[in-house]
Amino acid sequence: NVAPQVIDLLVHGAAQVATPQGSTPRGGADLGRISIVHEGAVAIHDGRVLAVGPARELEASFAPARRLDAHGGTVVPGFVDAHTHPIFAGTREDEFELRAAGKTYVEISLAGGGIVSTMRGVRGASQEQLVAQLLGRMDRFLALGTTTVEAKTGYGLELETELRCLRVLDTANRMHPIELVSTFLGAHDFPPEYRDDRAGYVDHVCDEMLPRVAESGLAEYADIFTEAHVFDLDQSRRIMNRARELGFGLRLHVDQLTPLGGAQLAAELRAASADHLECVTRAGIEALAAAAVQPVLCPVVPLFLRDDHEAPARAMIDAGLAPAIATDFNPGSCYLQSMAEVCSWSALRYGMSAAECLTASTLNAACSLGRGADRGTLEPGKRADLLVLDVPNLKYLCYELGRSPVAAVVVGGELAYE
Ligand code: NIG
Ligand code: FE
Repeated sequence: NVAPQVIDLLVHGAAQVATPQGSTPRGGADLGRISIVHEGAVAIHDGRVLAVGPARELEASFAPARRLDAHGGTVVPGFVDAHTHPIFAGTREDEFELRAAGKTYVEISLAGGGIVSTMRGVRGASQEQLVAQLLGRMDRFLALGTTTVEAKTGYGLELETELRCLRVLDTANRMHPIELVSTFLGAHDFPPEYRDDRAGYVDHVCDEMLPRVAESGLAEYADIFTEAHVFDLDQSRRIMNRARELGFGLRLHVDQLTPLGGAQLAAELRAASADHLECVTRAGIEALAAAAVQPVLCPVVPLFLRDDHEAPARAMIDAGLAPAIATDFNPGSCYLQSMAEVCSWSALRYGMSAAECLTASTLNAACSLGRGADRGTLEPGKRADLLVLDVPNLKYLCYELGRSPVAAVVVGGELAYE
């Protein structure tokens, strides 16, 4: 008889422990291949997963210092939200009502609302104010089960404010259990100073902003809003090539409102992700598949914008692509932080199964952020980021609407929310 090994934490009492497996993105038929342990448990030590298996076996092998009872719920990896814009000041409920009354997102934007209206709020806010607001939003992400958040700037649209937003991300990151992955989105829109000199702003982003942001070391990725009313394909190619030269990973907002061919550009650039894709063409899907670029799909955005286009998720999956699903949390086009709700809408709008949604919202999202080897599944050695959902099986993740199923959240082996 071997003495049981002393460990930090045992999560027990789960009807199911459900997780994707591996460290590379899963696409095509593999997207929904997950492992489910019935009456399962998770052993955690030093912030990492030590073992996942039947509770009976883990109870015999380990002597936990602490225990977390899942009370017959479902245990899954922490959600990874691979696309958000969480540093903003002020909200845009008036625009939401204008769209309800028939105006479009682009009409509102060209009339001086949209991104530029949030820009005014952010330019007028201090670093301390922005940190305080971001921390409040991070508390909500955590309570909703999101343990890693990709966070874009893009409401400064001038060097000093963009750098302030990157410092806000860095500060909040050190103060909160959630990990923020920072993305510089200086090319989110054209600021009013450059309204009549768009080429001048593209030069400014390439020659001043990107080099200074690279020097600051505060952003891992660079992003751009490639769209008919903002950055065209040539401007996007130039900015993203410069970003790549400076060492940034690339993410792109593409083919959201019009089929401009942004997916093909993301493929040409070998971007880490091509996001939105509501209007992607067959050729765009093929280009992404050939270049193995991951789509990041935001199923609630077209609903929120009352736009008829829908990302052809099943065609992308059938083409072998490995999609992540994300909130796109921002005050204009999707005021939503709940990944469980994203899972429900992915089921309802894309026809994805709960197993596919789980993989897309954890492992695939982590892979798109270059963190697939570190998190995104419950397997020995991975960071112990997990959720206790108070639902009897994984299918409930999509099935039950209007209520967060998240009962407890463990981040890096520590109970961070209950
Ligand atoms: O992802 N598409 C561009 N950016 C955001 C919208 C930002 C805003 O309207 O404030 C998006 O939808
Ligand atoms: Fe976005």
